[in-house]
Amino acid sequence: MPLVTTTEMFKKAYDGGYAIGAFNINNMETIQGIVEAGMETRSPLILQVSKGARQYANVTYLKKLMEAATIESDLPIAFHLDHGDSFELCKDCVDNGFTSVMIDASHMPFEENVKLTRQVVEYAHDHGVVVEAELGKLAGIEEHVVSDSHQYTDPDEVQEFVSRTGVDSLAIAIGTSHGAYKFKGKPELRFDILAEVEKRLPNFPIVLHGASSVPQKFVDLIDQYGGNVKGAQGVPEELLRKAASMAVCKINIDSDIRLAITACIRQHFAEHPEHFDPRQYLAPARTAIKEMVKHKIINVLGSNDKA
Ligand code: G3H
Ligand code: 13P
Ligand code: ZN
Repeated sequence: MPLVTTTEMFKKAYDGGYAIGAFNINNMETIQGIVEAGMETRSPLILQVSKGARQYANVTYLKKLMEAATIESDLPIAFHLDHGDSFELCKDCVDNGFTSVMIDASHMPFEENVKLTRQVVEYAHDHGVVVEAELGKLAGIEEHVVSDSHQYTDPDEVQEFVSRTGVDSLAIAIGTSHGAYKFKGKPELRFDILAEVEKRLPNFPIVLHGASSVPQKFVDLIDQYGGNVKGAQGVPEELLRKAASMAVCKINIDSDIRLAITACIRQHFAEHPEHFDPRQYLAPARTAIKEMVKHKIINVLGSNDKA
């Protein structure tokens, strides 16, 4: 099946009270692990590429790996730019076969965010590509912008933003953050803001960034085998499940993939210090990604059997 946009996926997810996982990809093993998980659970997928991933892997390689995913699977798969920071980057992705782009002008004043988002929407829609934008700011690191505190999305702004930009989905800030260190104390999300946004934008897909749950088993394995991710804490799975049952149709996961790979490879080298063939440790890492993504699809997103 050729790559698809997120339009149909989000409509079904909204109506069905579940969400689609948007998984960040940088290399072949990660794509393979995620796609295998999607096939085994019959789940639609969003595979997303950050600006850093494009620089790391080269867009031509990523495009061809995405093409391979569509040949090897019969799943609906969207190819998405994560945190696009300029019109030129979004345009380049549209021109390179992405089916969805995010323009993240959330750090700009409202009027500038509207202007840049509108410019990307006009170009993308002319080429059959859908657009995600963001209102509010997440704490943590967001494409080189570091912020200590959340700037929660103001529900009073969302209707005007969506009608003036024509954007297809909206990322909002309700207390999640990027990376593996999300909460200092008790994890809390502002479901009151999500409910208010949902009221102002009926039937409109909402996106949750910074939604890794940081499974304790990866934190423990990394610690056990010489790493140090002490204090890492993610979004509890039940909070993500609740968000998915509301207007959240896209849940972004990157850190959990990084943790799964790192935990697996650290353990592998501790148990097999004589190994030096990358296939010996990348194959189990790929399986670890697959198992983690399957768990998300079935227990958190609820997107199994929806392909
Ligand atoms: O939100 C950002 C994603 O986790 C991508 O991170 O820019 O390090 O590839 P990256
Ligand atoms: P995590 O760091 O929680 O995985 O968030 C990823 C993300 O939001 C990518 O855009
Ligand atoms: Zn993000």
